[in-house]
This record gives sequence, structure tokens and C-alpha cells, in this order.
Amino acid sequence: MSIFSRWLGKLRFGVFSENDLKREQVKTENEPTGENIPRHVAIIMDGNGRWAKARGLPRIAGHHNGMKTVKRITKAADRVGVKVLTLYAFSTENWKRPKAEVEFLMKLPQEFLSLELDELVENNVQVRMMGNRELLPDHTLAAVEEAVRKTKDNTGLILNFALNYGSRIEMVDAAKELARQAAAGIIQPDAIEEADFERLLLSSGLPDPDLLIRTSGELRLSNFMLWQLAYSEFWFTDVYWPEFSEQHLFDAIREYQRRARRYGGL
Ligand code: IPE
Ligand code: IPE
Ligand code: MG
Repeated sequence: MSIFSRWLGKLRFGVFSENDLKREQVKTENEPTGENIPRHVAIIMDGNGRWAKARGLPRIAGHHNGMKTVKRITKAADRVGVKVLTLYAFSTENWKRPKAEVEFLMKLPQEFLSLELDELVENNVQVRMMGNRELLPDHTLAAVEEAVRKTKDNTGLILNFALNYGSRIEMVDAAKELARQAAAGIIQPDAIEEADFERLLLSSGLPDPDLLIRTSGELRLSNFMLWQLAYSEFWFTDVYWPEFSEQHLFDAIREYQRRARRYGGL
């Protein structure tokens, strides 16, 4: 829907506010356009806990607010033409956190999808999950699988949740599978190519991320897509995830558009 028709709708129903006007103006000013919109944007959504702490709130309030950012950023990414949005929601190392926090985090996919799945379906978004399914509680997995099933034929934005995801175990599992195939005589070890390994990764079928964003000021990958990020452009911000806005995403994309990707060439 164009901005114009959204405004028209709001005018018609009398809910048009001055704030809307300001927001729409900001959006159009800073929205990236052009050919080289990153096809795949991956985000390490970090800083929920610190966002909450700074406000005297429990950490889970940060996670809850972070969920609203997921909705905002999914829509914004879709609007500017991103094809795949991968969101790091829970790492294989996050099980180390206090039980109550882990339990809360494991309820979020359900809550998010119960609120948003209809709209995701309507907007032609295809939901995917990348991570180890076995350790997830049944209720978490059921919610995710319902979303995957209901959106599997959608042809719009791919919204890929990295949930119970760890890059090292992903690669070890791929190596095990290649070793099994070699032991069974299905492949020759000397004939293994990068593409054979890549096909066994959880991201198989998706292009590598063009742009990686991490919020909250941390400058590390925390076991996220180590193989796939080999030639991605990185963009960091001190902003905590609950406060990450469309404008931050657009700033990141616009900076990406100014970068020269050389892949080792000239
Ligand atoms: C990111 O926020 C969400 C997850 C890792 C699940 P954090 O919970 O890591 O927030 P900080 O980094 O402690 O502020
Ligand atoms: C990375 O954030 C994982 C997710 C955002 C899901 P962490 O907060 O777990 O990373 P570290 O512990 O600071 O490296
Ligand atoms: Mg963190």
C-alpha cells in the first residue's frame, strides 16, 4: 500500500494525527531506494536486558518490547525490498541463562505469532526457522511449525528466525554428515567442495547475508552464521534492540549501499 493511500485511509476514518504526519515524512526522507538494496539482512537483536535495566524494569520487559521491534523491522525491511530477514532470537549458548528468563524467551515465539501470524500470512511473508528443534519446548516448536506451515507457499519476504541456533554446532553437524557419506562410500573425501558443505548448513537455499546488523554496542558475532557471513558487510549501533527503529535500519542499508564489496578482488 502506498503512503498516499495509507494517508487517505486515515483521513477517511478520521484517525490522522500530527504524529503520523511526522513519522511518514521521516520515513520517506530516509528510506533507501535504488538497485542495491541488500537481498539478505541478518540481525543480532541484542540489548533487551540492558534496555530494561536502564529503566528499572525486569529483563523480560526488555524481551517483550523487543518483540515489538521485530514487527516494526519486518515490515520496514519488506517495504524497502529486502528478500530475506534473519533474526537471531536465541543462541545455543542462551540456555546458560536463569531458568525463568529462558522460559520467558521460549514463550515469546508463541506470543509473537498469535498476535502477528494473520498479518504475516496476509502480507505474503514466509516464516522459517533455523536452529536445533530438538531442545525446544513442545509449545515453542508447535507455534513455530504452525507459522512455517501456514506460510510455506508465500512468495514474499522470508522471515527466518534463528532459534536455538549456533554456528559451530551447525558446521560440526554438516561435517558429521559428510563424514557419514564418505564412510558409506557415497562421496569421495577429495571431491568435497564448498557447495557440498553449504548444502548441509541450516541456511541451505538462502543467499548469504549481505548485511549484518548488531545492536547494543557489542562488537562480536556470538556464534552467529560464521560461514555465511564470510563476505557480509557489518553495521553496528549502540542502540538497544527495543529502541531500534525503521530509521536505524534504513541508515544501515544506506551505508551498505555506499560500501564497495570486493570479495578479494580489486
Ligand atoms: C538479546 O538481548 C536477546 C537474547 C539474547 C535472547 P539480551 O537478553 O542479550 O540483552 P543484554 O545483552 O543482556 O542487554
Ligand atoms: C547473541 O546475544 C544471541 C542473540 C541475540 C540471540 P548474546 O547477548 O547472547 O551474546 P553475548 O553473550 O553478549 O555474546
Ligand atoms: Mg546480550
